[in-house]
Amino acid sequence: MTDQLKPGSPAETPPAVSLTDSRDAVDLRLELARARSEIESLNAELAETNNGVIALYAELDDQAEALREASDLKSRFLSYMSHEFRVPLGAIRSIARILLDKLDGPLTEEQEKQVKFIQGSAVDLSEMVDDLLDLAKVEAGRITISPAWFEMVDLFSALRGMFKPILTNPEVSLVFDEPPDLPRLYTDDKKLSQILRNFISNALKFTLKGEVRVAVARGAPGWVIFTVSDTGIGIHQQNLASLFQDFVQVDSPIQKRMRGSGLGLALSKKFAELLGGRVRAESEPGVGSHFFVEIPVCSPVSESPASTQSEAEGERPDA
Ligand SMILES: Nc1ncnc2c1ncn2[C@@H]1O[C@H](COP(=O)(O)OP(=O)(O)O)[C@@H](O)[C@H]1O
Ligand SMILES: [Mg+2]
Repeated sequence: MTDQLKPGSPAETPPAVSLTDSRDAVDLRLELARARSEIESLNAELAETNNGVIALYAELDDQAEALREASDLKSRFLSYMSHEFRVPLGAIRSIARILLDKLDGPLTEEQEKQVKFIQGSAVDLSEMVDDLLDLAKVEAGRITISPAWFEMVDLFSALRGMFKPILTNPEVSLVFDEPPDLPRLYTDDKKLSQILRNFISNALKFTLKGEVRVAVARGAPGWVIFTVSDTGIGIHQQNLASLFQDFVQVDSPIQKRMRGSGLGLALSKKFAELLGGRVRAESEPGVGSHFFVEIPVCSPVSESPASTQSEAEGERPDA
């Protein structure tokens, strides 16, 4: 290399320290000291922020805990209350039935009307209490599903039987479409039946003329879709989204005459989710509504209690 230093070259002699060099060094040292103190103050600020974040986290934890406790308390309150209501309601219903059966003697026409009113109110209240209890159980994670194999035809004929005695409006017919050739379902038929019962009783409630039709069809591979369609009053688009929330009821002249808790659809949604599925609604005001529940042919097995799980798993197919 040509530019290599040779002995005696000027580079070997110590460089003369000029005035500007030492001033630069002082400036550099000052700069360093300033930077160091800046870093220290930044560090102190960071430590303070850290402490703040830790305190905020602790506060959030406390609030989350308080919320959990409040939700737990609400669920416990609902289930105690519902439980306590059931016994007196059962007594009212039994006594009303005894009176209407005239086991203790005849009733005047007016008395019969009044007792029927008491009976109707007690039935409505019992249904509301049952819905509240179910909702509390779902929220407390205490409702589990017990899937088993069953045939669609059996489900439909059970539903047909349940609704026959309460079809009082001759202008509305309840039709069950013949189920197409579908695979057998492995799901909790009681929960599925409860969802469909809610859909059908709503459809009958909000349909003054025409028909309520129940059908089932294949969905995406491994899924089936049940549909309850009616030719009733329908629901406005802006109300459709909130329909499946707790206590939601849409204002309508029919609604004012009917009782109900606004819990049926919320429960249906929760049950469908427990079955690994979902619910959905489409509607056109004045034309009618379609309520769908879409579930997998094979429901996921619920996690607890252990006995239910092992029973269910004993029957569960490998698919
Ligand atoms: N088929 C339907 N046609 C019109 N409105 C409906 C229908 N189904 C449900 N709704 C509306 O959704 C609301 C919520 O239904 P739901 O949760 O079952 O409560 P409830 O029947 O106790 O009022 C009803 O009050 C009604 O306003
Ligand atoms: Mg309802």
